Amino acid sequence: MITIVSIMSSTRKNFIKQVSAATLAGVSLQGLAKSSIIHQISAAHKTIAHDDESYWKTVRQLFPLTKDLAYLNNGTMGPSPYPVIEAMRRAMMDCDQLGNYGGWEATASKLAKFVNVNDDEIALTHNVTEGINIACWGLPLKKGDEVIMTTHEHVGGAFPWLNRRKLHGIVIKTFTPASTASETLNLISSLINKKTRAIVVPHIPCTQGQILPAKEICTLAKDKGLFSIIDGAHGAGMMPLNLHDMGCDVYASCCHKWMLGPKGTGFLYVRKEFQDTLQPYFVGGGSDNAKWNMMTAVPEMGDYAPSAHRYYGATQSIGLYKGVEASIDFIETIGQENICSRIKALGKYAQDQLLKYSDKLDVITPTEEQSRCSIMGFKMKSVEYMKFYNTCAENKVRIRAVHENGLDSLRVSTHIYNTTNDVDKLIELIKKA
Ligand SMILES: Cc1ncc(COP(=O)(O)O)c(C=O)c1O
Repeated sequence: MITIVSIMSSTRKNFIKQVSAATLAGVSLQGLAKSSIIHQISAAHKTIAHDDESYWKTVRQLFPLTKDLAYLNNGTMGPSPYPVIEAMRRAMMDCDQLGNYGGWEATASKLAKFVNVNDDEIALTHNVTEGINIACWGLPLKKGDEVIMTTHEHVGGAFPWLNRRKLHGIVIKTFTPASTASETLNLISSLINKKTRAIVVPHIPCTQGQILPAKEICTLAKDKGLFSIIDGAHGAGMMPLNLHDMGCDVYASCCHKWMLGPKGTGFLYVRKEFQDTLQPYFVGGGSDNAKWNMMTAVPEMGDYAPSAHRYYGATQSIGLYKGVEASIDFIETIGQENICSRIKALGKYAQDQLLKYSDKLDVITPTEEQSRCSIMGFKMKSVEYMKFYNTCAENKVRIRAVHENGLDSLRVSTHIYNTTNDVDKLIELIKKA
């Protein structure tokens, strides 16, 4: 406990120091004000009530997000707070002013701690799609091998597998998530047969934000000798993650949604013992472990790096990855548990409000406590979904239209910069629809 607290407080101190240094460099009063806000919200090891509106209002001041917009689309893109933007600016300046190069391996280590795994189990990526592609192409699958997926995939989670189906003849079996975790598990079990090789599911589908029982699914996969590949686009930052405990072979996530980090940043967890099974196909500087030489009679690449670095190589954007580090500091300053409880409460508020209008819409996210957090899906009964989406956009309420898999529904997602007022603006439009 002492260690955890001291790690947290040292993270917080670093964060405060960084923000203060940036402020001095910019010598701006605005910067000083932000630095004082950081002090005020510093709560890593305190419990903050989800309805402590004064605390969350203070947090909101750290986001440049336009005030007259009810931004209810964090599921697509998480707007960054000032400290993240400032960290990116500073690292980019250092690179261009001082000719600094490298330094992104430190980001992989920080991400590893963030999701409770080891440093050598994290590969840096640029988005979830890249991570899923690495996992999909690296899996030893042959024609006729079966992969279980949902009917609620995002294109980035689906296409790599559909492409392998096209090119290599793998077979895709699908199920539609049920309204309870246990029913969903039963559905997956019923699809498993002698040809099944992998269970490939989103932790939280993009369509309606249902939390799937990832740990139980991975246990089932392990018991049946199957690979478990989790699309974690909405996991990191939405809730505390312990990927060792989850037991997946692979977890692909991004930093530009719930982590509120730079856009075009992500990471891929590959369980250490699984790294010799998952073949690296995209390789470059950093993927090997030896001195290679094209002058030898038979030029060869050395052994793969003894870590997830085998899955990525070459130059990365230091500015973006320093922004990722700052986003982890930001989350830890507030506390991931505090964030989760706040956004889950906002999600419940949104769901409860939507449920009141059952004459006008169907809520498609389960109400089961363990199956929901802060993304809610709904289908309008008599108004065409794009028409209502456009009405929202015209009234400065940003939600997401869900075209995926023929759902033609709508989605609302809330993060810590939101309040119940943002949700109320949406509800007013529903009342009038
Ligand atoms: C469940 C899911 N998987 C994959 C993706 C693709 O993410 P990225 O754009 O980071 O590749 C998304 C994006 O919204 C998503 O919601």
